[in-house]
Amino acid sequence: MVELLPSILSSDFAHLADDVAAAERGGGTVIHVDVMDGHFVPNITLGPPVVKSLRKATTLPLDCHLMIYNPNDYIPAFADAGANWVSVHYEACPHLHRTIELIHNHGMSAGVVLNPATRVDVLLDILPMLHHVLVMSVNPGFGGQKFIPFSLDKIRRLAEIRKELGLQFRIEVDGGVAHDTIAQVVQAGAELLVAGSAVFGSGNAEQNARELLAAARVAASESGS
Ligand code: DX5
Ligand code: ZN
Repeated sequence: MVELLPSILSSDFAHLADDVAAAERGGGTVIHVDVMDGHFVPNITLGPPVVKSLRKATTLPLDCHLMIYNPNDYIPAFADAGANWVSVHYEACPHLHRTIELIHNHGMSAGVVLNPATRVDVLLDILPMLHHVLVMSVNPGFGGQKFIPFSLDKIRRLAEIRKELGLQFRIEVDGGVAHDTIAQVVQAGAELLVAGSAVFGSGNAEQNARELLAAARVAASESGS
């Protein structure tokens, strides 16, 4: 089932609760929270205190996308703050299996994120442990970038592997998902659709979310997923 995950990176942080509520009214079912450390990616955003406030503002699951080095040092704090899903970058985790176990031991669902230049096949052995795989369709760090077309091949490959191995992980896509790309990512096999600027960038977030989700559902029904 396709779901829309509004990314608060492009929201107005001074009115975060209102923006989240609008995106939820528009059909968003999971809130995507971008955590950046200024080292793994060239930008700094937010950490556990903001997640804690968000936790009070919505009952939707909070999907924390950690674009940070040494995520193990912060996983307990995100759990305490009320995060539900935590995804870490393959490129930032030399001991990925240990990191996934740490996320599980803190009662959260674990995901792994792949940068555009990282091949899907590196995850083969660890896929059975994952709740989701997040395919970055831009280089992480900023909202409003252009969708990288070969991400579609990676989504297709993941869907293929999932079928071949009979696994359950969900396929998430993040970066440049907007009106002109959403149908393609759904047709390729993505079902958790992160959108930042397409929801909060301009106009009305509720209406933007509703239109994006409607387009995603049409594409899903056309492709029989
Ligand atoms: C980028 C973040 C994204 C960002 C996407 O590094 O991971 O979640 O919010 O923004 P858009 O949807 O504008 O590409
Ligand atoms: Zn993200």
